[in-house]
Amino acid sequence: MKLLLATCAKIPPEAIGCDLALKKALEHRGVETVLRPWDQIEPQEEAKGHAAGVVVRSVWDYTEQSEKFFRWLHGLRDEAIPVINEVDVLLWNSNKRYLLDLIAHGVPCPVTRIVDQDPEIETTASQIPGDRLVLKPCIGESGVGVTLVERHQVAAQAEALRAETGRSDLLLQEFMPEIREGELSLVFIDGHFAHGVRKRPNPDDFRVNGRYRPLAPVLVVPEKEHVAAAEEVLRHVSGRPVYARIDGILRGGQFVLMEIEVIDPALYLDMVPASANALADAIVAAIRPS
Ligand SMILES: Nc1ncnc2c1ncn2[C@@H]1O[C@H](COP(=O)(O)OP(=O)(O)O)[C@@H](O)[C@H]1O
Ligand SMILES: [Mg+2]
Repeated sequence: MKLLLATCAKIPPEAIGCDLALKKALEHRGVETVLRPWDQIEPQEEAKGHAAGVVVRSVWDYTEQSEKFFRWLHGLRDEAIPVINEVDVLLWNSNKRYLLDLIAHGVPCPVTRIVDQDPEIETTASQIPGDRLVLKPCIGESGVGVTLVERHQVAAQAEALRAETGRSDLLLQEFMPEIREGELSLVFIDGHFAHGVRKRPNPDDFRVNGRYRPLAPVLVVPEKEHVAAAEEVLRHVSGRPVYARIDGILRGGQFVLMEIEVIDPALYLDMVPASANALADAIVAAIRPS
């Protein structure tokens, strides 16, 4: 069996230790594994049966060309090519509006609003506590465009972000100062908790994404109740993602959801070989049901 792990053209595959760890674990199971940028995977060509399926992994440029990426996902689905995670859940997760679904289900999250050409952005902002607020694109990743703004500058900063990203819909959120203590990333494989990592931002920043020079991620053993809170979040995700990362911060000891990642999260598999093996097993089982 051969599988394609979808990556991105802007980063050489040999630079992504997490993908290499997964490739190694898959190959150990007799699966030929090819890392290839997603935009070099042709659904119609693959429909001829070259590969048994596509695992979406480090597609870290998809938000820069999101319409093309969504067409690609639809193309894979139209050609009945098995995709992990499933296309529907990828599409759902690609727009941070999904947080509103979860909030409606009672999941603890920062106070969140969508602003879309909103002439009353200041009124919307007045519903959010704190002197400073976070603005971010609804379709975004790697912390791109995530901006901490003073309340009185929110309208001007929203306009600047719209000009920069070319998109009008933005998320406006309560700033969670607890991010200083770090973001907890809980990795789930086939619905089961696998391992946890804590990422702290650089003292000069609040974003833990790699481009903002965070401290090195560390493996942690999370409290049982935090794992249970993340499991509860996962229950609201349709289907059962083969891999998922649930990111949160702790406020008053409670796990507060920042983001669910079922598209292209770094899974830190190179730090936890047992999880690389578990994901390889889960992928093989999903592609080749017994
Ligand atoms: N409401 C918030 N309060 C505090 N920090 C935040 C908030 N939203 C985002 N951040 C910081 O910015 C980072 C990126 O934001 P996130 O919502 O995870 O978007 P992305 O998909 O770009 O990673 C987070 O990991 C966190 O460090
Ligand atoms: Mg994030």
